[in-house]
Amino acid sequence: MISIGIIGLGTVGIGTYKILKEYNSLIKQRTGLDIKVVKIADIDLERNRGLSFKRGILTKDAYEVIDNPNIDIIVELIGGIQPAYDYIVRAIRKKKWVVTANKALLAEKWDEVFKVAEREHCEIGFEASVCGGIPVIRAIRDGLIGNKIHYILGILNGTSNYILTKMTEEDVSFNKALSEAQRLGFAEQDPTLDIEGIDAAHKLCILTRLAFNCSIHMKDIITGGISKIEPIDIGFAKEFGYRIKLLAVAKEEKGMVEVRVEPAMIPVAHPMSTVNGVYNATYVVGDKIGPNLYYGMGAGSDPTGSAVVSDIVDMASRITMKNPRTKVPLSTSEKRIRGGGESSVPYYIRFTAQDRPGVLSKISGILAKYNISISSVIQKGRKENGHVPIVMLTHGAIEKNLKKAKTEIDRSPFIKGESVHIRIEEGNL
Ligand code: HSE
Repeated sequence: MISIGIIGLGTVGIGTYKILKEYNSLIKQRTGLDIKVVKIADIDLERNRGLSFKRGILTKDAYEVIDNPNIDIIVELIGGIQPAYDYIVRAIRKKKWVVTANKALLAEKWDEVFKVAEREHCEIGFEASVCGGIPVIRAIRDGLIGNKIHYILGILNGTSNYILTKMTEEDVSFNKALSEAQRLGFAEQDPTLDIEGIDAAHKLCILTRLAFNCSIHMKDIITGGISKIEPIDIGFAKEFGYRIKLLAVAKEEKGMVEVRVEPAMIPVAHPMSTVNGVYNATYVVGDKIGPNLYYGMGAGSDPTGSAVVSDIVDMASRITMKNPRTKVPLSTSEKRIRGGGESSVPYYIRFTAQDRPGVLSKISGILAKYNISISSVIQKGRKENGHVPIVMLTHGAIEKNLKKAKTEIDRSPFIKGESVHIRIEEGNL
């Protein structure tokens, strides 16, 4: 028998416990393994979770789980950096293998935890840390091992995707869509991590390490959120044949990897444009396999529990066969992460400008000065105090040039307020 200890009986902990209990015989049939949860720690044991537990299985003290000599695998499902980091390191030092869904911890402390794991010959499973129930970690680590991956495009945050979908389909403001997401329980009361792109950046950090074998930290990821997206830009995006999504992009060009999470436009012809609501997806391009698309539920009790269980079963079978992986994914390659501002992509820009002769030519003159070429222009809409929206799509432009041009244009007397610019990600179809 393989004995499991779970720390954290929240949404994912409950899903994991229920699957292990319900499918104990199924897993035994499929693998020959008898996997049992023998101890669970949570700080709140009073809450009614609608579950029954054997006497003595529950404790408020995580160390009763970690230090239990009969437990083979510790499953950390409390989230956050501390005390999760201390729990994981202590478990590994006690030679226990660890499963975690904790993307923030892995993004911030990857080197530290994997170094300890390597030293102690233990493993850390983290399938549930990215895209909930979608087995994307296993796909990249195992399924695509015979490929060089050069592009990852992810919709990695269900909350943001729900909000943008609602804004797109119902033409409502960001605040209204967020309130609806909160009412339905998709968004937290403090939604910062989700709507500002931080949760997606944590996940992209993990995918980038695996796919590009490079060391990367949160500060290397250009990160922006969706809170400033306005319905008018969603409307113009539709007219040009795009959707706005919070896109997590990691792409390699000439040995440099650029990694960013921000709202961007994607053509409606790209399959990622159809990933709606709380769903997640990751589009991966490998040199041998071409594009692969992984789609499904990125959060929730059962989907994320399913991912945790996949790690537990994988580890249980290798513990039984005394067959650890030969290498933990410690990324040591020297491949460099490219800073922002250097890459060339098309842009959408919206100015609020006076509606009089010569304005358009002045704007295009400044853009030309910075070597930015226009591919389409729309000017329409009702005049408000003599101002109208002017929307342009550019050909590929270097980001730092685009920003300089925009600053200069915004200082002109015929422009009102700050202009909006959004990247266009063609999606490597
Ligand atoms: N809060 C995340 C999301 C799920 O909205 O996708 C957990 O990573």
